[in-house]
Amino acid sequence: MDGSPDDISNLKYLLEPESVAVIGASRNPQKIGYQVLWNLIGGGFPREKIFPINPKAEEILDLKCYPSILEVPEKVDLAVIVVPAKIVPMVLKQCVEKGVKAVAIISAGFGEVGNIAAEEEIVRIAREGGMRLLGPNIVGVANTHNNMNASFCQALPFKGNIAFITQSGALAIALVGWTLLEKIGLSVLVSLGNKADVDDADLILYLRDDPKTSVITIYMEGLDDGQKFMDVASKVSSQKPIIIVKAGRSERGAKAASSHTGSLAGSDIAYTAAFKKYGVLRASNIQELFDWAMATAYMPPLKNNNVVILTNGGGAGVLATDECESSGIKLMDIPPKLAEELRKYMPPFGSVGNPIDLTGMATKEWYKGALKALLSHEDVGGVIILYCHTAITAPMEIAEGIIEAYEESNKDKPITTSFIGGSECLESQEHLRRNNIPSYPSPERAVSAMAALLERGRYLMRPPSRAPQLEVDRATAKRIIGKALEEGRSALSSIEAFQVAEAYGIPVPPLQVVKSREEVVSVARSIGFPLVAEIESPDIIHKTDVGGIVLDIENEDGALQAYDQILKNIKKNAPTAKVIGVAFRKMVEEGQEVLVGMHRDPTFGPLIAFGMGGIFVNILKDVSFRITPLTEMEAKEMISETKASKILYGYRGMEKLDINSVVDVILRVSQLAMDFKEITGIDVNPLFVYRNGCVAVDVKILLGKSEKE
Ligand code: ACO
Repeated sequence: MDGSPDDISNLKYLLEPESVAVIGASRNPQKIGYQVLWNLIGGGFPREKIFPINPKAEEILDLKCYPSILEVPEKVDLAVIVVPAKIVPMVLKQCVEKGVKAVAIISAGFGEVGNIAAEEEIVRIAREGGMRLLGPNIVGVANTHNNMNASFCQALPFKGNIAFITQSGALAIALVGWTLLEKIGLSVLVSLGNKADVDDADLILYLRDDPKTSVITIYMEGLDDGQKFMDVASKVSSQKPIIIVKAGRSERGAKAASSHTGSLAGSDIAYTAAFKKYGVLRASNIQELFDWAMATAYMPPLKNNNVVILTNGGGAGVLATDECESSGIKLMDIPPKLAEELRKYMPPFGSVGNPIDLTGMATKEWYKGALKALLSHEDVGGVIILYCHTAITAPMEIAEGIIEAYEESNKDKPITTSFIGGSECLESQEHLRRNNIPSYPSPERAVSAMAALLERGRYLMRPPSRAPQLEVDRATAKRIIGKALEEGRSALSSIEAFQVAEAYGIPVPPLQVVKSREEVVSVARSIGFPLVAEIESPDIIHKTDVGGIVLDIENEDGALQAYDQILKNIKKNAPTAKVIGVAFRKMVEEGQEVLVGMHRDPTFGPLIAFGMGGIFVNILKDVSFRITPLTEMEAKEMISETKASKILYGYRGMEKLDINSVVDVILRVSQLAMDFKEITGIDVNPLFVYRNGCVAVDVKILLGKSEKE
């Protein structure tokens, strides 16, 4: 215990206490303080280690009551606090005096209603006293493996190996009933409430080493400290699956509708990108969360994306096939020898294609034999098993055949199952689950579970890689950015942005700023025609609107005319703008337009975007995102995730373009964003890509006080 807020050692007392006090244990069965006590006793926590605290009561539920925690004759590991907010600080101080190691504050009335000062006060008391504080504003905490239900949920969930952490207390209550119905076992259930002290990251780190927890599931609404979460996720997710339902997805749609790269990167997108980077699976709803939790808790990841569907019904097989395709699951071709072996387990009219159709006559022996053959074949990565109920088959027997086949295999390949057929199949589904075989009522859910195992397998098999340290001219970039900040500007001028890009090795067209008419010809000559001329002024952002740009300058006369025309236009259309000069830059040959951007997310820091550039960005929303620091592999993945990549890779006879040069630009934008926290946005759009190399035709760099230092 080092006393720091991130010290997780005292979480042991929160999740595995040997003794619990309930401060505010009530005599009234209608009150939360009574229910918490009732649940602790009913859940099977040792009665002699439960200490109700209530100054007005002698005894509640046949347990001796103490007027204050200080009167309890034994040590107390965890205090659950259920008194009104205004007396919480007082009882907390008593907990500190008593030497309590952890508190769970059910009481509401703190930060969630704007009572920030009160919340800060309780955190201060807890930290100074070396206690970890869960809440406030929570339903409580439960651990099925030590029969502790220190909550006002309706019951203790079944014992299991799925940890469920939830920011919403109401969801905790609702889900307990649901998990009981669905026969889903939990290890711990933690309501996080206001997360004033203990947060998701603390619990993830603690549960990594909990032998009773195989998978960590979270309902999350938001994070205060994205960096802490990412640090922890990077340490834990290679050892235990972390699956999160993050509320607030719809914001993504709204953000994605915008044309600007920066605003494309809404914060929900940042969550997705951060989760992906650190192998956290993002489920889209609670059902998927538990479906995937079951799959990842019971099965090894899918490391070889060569999957077989085994079914007794053609329709279910087709539905599963469609779902596999949209989930990225590859259905393998069945090699002739394996097909020959499988033929032993079906009538002559069965099918050894994939899906393998054992037909409606399929028996336990056929399912078992076919599954054993598949699991022992080296090419097979995983099997999705479907059963459609018929009048002549017994689902329980078939379930038994599947369990036996899996038990007799090496158990190194995942299987998921779906028993379709209403109430007749429910019993066998439960039987399969009890035997650690993930089972679902629809083929789509069995496929979705396999897709989660595939994503996990891909994450675990990623080769280790680091963000490269690129050679850049940091000093030049620092000078330009520093000057702009000194002048109180929130963006670099376009020439400055080009200069910073150039300093960071991002290819830009040759350019020069001309400050007098006499320089025009020599500068134009030195750059070479055709040219673009544009006003260089910190006050003018939309240059076209004020006549500040001339394109297609073919010769020296044209350059002089452009110079004169631009200055005349500015005098007329933007008379108060500070004019630095006119910038001439080489007009580059058109290439394939893509964009590379950066938006500094307030939670996770720099979020890099890659996508189809130009006008298409609005229509196609064909953009991929990653959180920095970026590795070369991630930059390549960003490109290949977009539809635009087909064009870059040479679509239908088109020339293959220089993808490596784009990877390099992505990495350099990433490094620029990492090096300068003052940069809040970067937009390289369009970036023209050619057969050899690429050039940034427009670069915007936004500055500001970073929310994420
Ligand atoms: N030490 C111990 N017990 C005390 C003390 C003390 N210093 N002072 C009073 N008590 C006793 C009271 O006498 C009472 O017991 P009794 O009923 O036997 O007399 C008991 O503590 C509770 O105190 P009350 O003043 O009666 O408070 P009440 O039970 O009405 O409310 C509560 C307390 C539940 C903490 C309330 O203030 C609250 O915050 N409710 C909201 C809780 C909540 O919703 N949390 C979030 C859940 S998430 C979701 O949204 C579902």
